[in-house]
Amino acid sequence: MLPMLPAMITNSLEAAVAERSQGREEPAVMVRGLRKAYGAVQAVDGIDLTVRRGEVLAVLGPNGAGKTTTVEILEGHRSADAGEVQVLGFDPALRERAFRERIGIVLQEGGLDPAITVREAIELYSAAYPRPRDAREVIDLVGLDGKADARAETLSGGQRRRLDLALGIAGDPDLIFLDEPTTGFDPAARRQSWELISSLRSLGKTILLTTHYMDEAQQLADRVVVIARGRVIAEGTPDSLGRDGHAVVSFRLPDFHDGLPLPSAARVERETASFTTTTPTRDLAPVLAWAAGRGMELENLTVARPSLEDVYLQLTEETR
Ligand SMILES: Nc1ncnc2c1ncn2[C@@H]1O[C@H](COP(=O)(O)OP(=O)(O)OP(=O)(O)O)[C@@H](O)[C@H]1O
Ligand SMILES: [Mg+2]
Repeated sequence: MLPMLPAMITNSLEAAVAERSQGREEPAVMVRGLRKAYGAVQAVDGIDLTVRRGEVLAVLGPNGAGKTTTVEILEGHRSADAGEVQVLGFDPALRERAFRERIGIVLQEGGLDPAITVREAIELYSAAYPRPRDAREVIDLVGLDGKADARAETLSGGQRRRLDLALGIAGDPDLIFLDEPTTGFDPAARRQSWELISSLRSLGKTILLTTHYMDEAQQLADRVVVIARGRVIAEGTPDSLGRDGHAVVSFRLPDFHDGLPLPSAARVERETASFTTTTPTRDLAPVLAWAAGRGMELENLTVARPSLEDVYLQLTEETR
């Protein structure tokens, strides 16, 4: 607050600050009507996409949905057939140096010289950037300490992927494209890279990532976009996407349950009663009153919202 200024000015200042913090300034990535075909295959079929500055956007979708094609167009690695594309205000197709200096890339399949060492690869990539991170710091950040002098060909699959991630962040870019960054990682490495991605986000970096791991999207993304057959089929926050307020209630049916006021939609399978409802409180109240009145504990009682994975599978069902 700025109490000495007239209300009109402070209001507009506060609005401007709020606007910035809500990312309503010019987006980092803006795509309209993007199309790309490979021969008869329409890989991208009219995609609109916005990535706000400072956010983590996760692009989800089945194999062959067009994720990598879209990301490669945004990186300037592939040309579009049609559509409007702006990345940090640049047209990526021009591959201007000023553009390349501000983006970092982790390709789905990196193509490194097998004889190069970890440190050499990082230094080589860093050289293209005006203010790169220190190579030792990068090696540390991706958990490759002890492997600095190892040749790429001697790394395990997961270690190779860590090196790919290292190359994506080595130049300390503003916008980072991560195409399935944690595929092949062991669970600890995945958690470690989530921390790395979160810390990049808190430094104000913008991140566009693709992933097949719903827990990764749930954990990292401010927003998710689901694409299938080259089109956006849904978008929203990980918590709100495709959820229309339904919850699934379930509990173990007590041995003696004569008179238990189960809602009519309830099904009983293997001694477990369950029902889907938008009003779990109202539907459960008589059940709980019945059980409590008998001094009975309902075993395994849960009220669960569909997970991002449930929602994703439902959304993409008809496209598989
Ligand atoms: N270089 C290429 N030449 C011909 N067809 C291609 C090429 N690259 C991709 N395709 C086709 O374009 C479609 C989209 O592929 P893309 O790699 O963009 O999918 P994706 O969503 O990244 O899939 P995944 O989850 O498997 O990585 C697929 O049908 C694929 O076979
Ligand atoms: Mg891909």
